[in-house]
Amino acid sequence: MKKILSFILTAFITLIGFNAQAEDNNMTDKKVLVAYFSATGTTAEVAKNLADNINADLFTIEPEQPYTAADLNWRNDQSRSSLEMNDRSSRPQIASKVDDMSKYSVVFVGFPIWWYREPSIIDTFMESYDFSGKTVVPFATSGSSGMGNSGKNMQELAPKAKVFDGKRFPADASKDELQQWAKEWL
Ligand SMILES: Cc1cc2nc3c(=O)[nH]c(=O)nc-3n(C[C@H](O)[C@H](O)[C@H](O)COP(=O)(O)O)c2cc1C
Repeated sequence: MKKILSFILTAFITLIGFNAQAEDNNMTDKKVLVAYFSATGTTAEVAKNLADNINADLFTIEPEQPYTAADLNWRNDQSRSSLEMNDRSSRPQIASKVDDMSKYSVVFVGFPIWWYREPSIIDTFMESYDFSGKTVVPFATSGSSGMGNSGKNMQELAPKAKVFDGKRFPADASKDELQQWAKEWL
């Protein structure tokens, strides 16, 4: 009886071991990109921490024309950001392209929330690549607003991708918190 119990226990432990190994492999099998836009550095910090901790490549979505402080003034309804965000067809140009998007199966896309959603330059990004079969996971920082319809909007612009709702993080989100969250898609 003792022998049988010992056999079952050993089999069980081996099985758990194999499972853990399979999960580890999953985390490295998929090629993952963290692409982000950040006007004042907050999202950049979160994006770098995320990429560092999940072993992903990092790409900065850099505007061809950088945003000045005046551009970012949301109290001025004539500022560049106000005008862009009031026009759903606005597509601010991006300075460079991801080297080879086809090699990535999961793309995390980070941005600051502007007027309760993704900035227009993220719309440009979503329309710039073939996301067929890819998983896209938005994340953001903000004063306090959540993701709003960001994920839904991005899905409409890249219909062949599977875009998730994603999550808004505080500026000081820990590496551990980011990794735990990201695990679902790795
Ligand atoms: C034009 C503009 C609009 C914004 N709209 C919102 C908003 O609707 N809700 C919110 O909580 N924060 C809003 N914010 C604050 C930013 O989301 C927040 O400061 C963010 O962390 C900045 O990230 P960044 O440093 O990566 O650009 C807005 C900021 C700007 C410049």
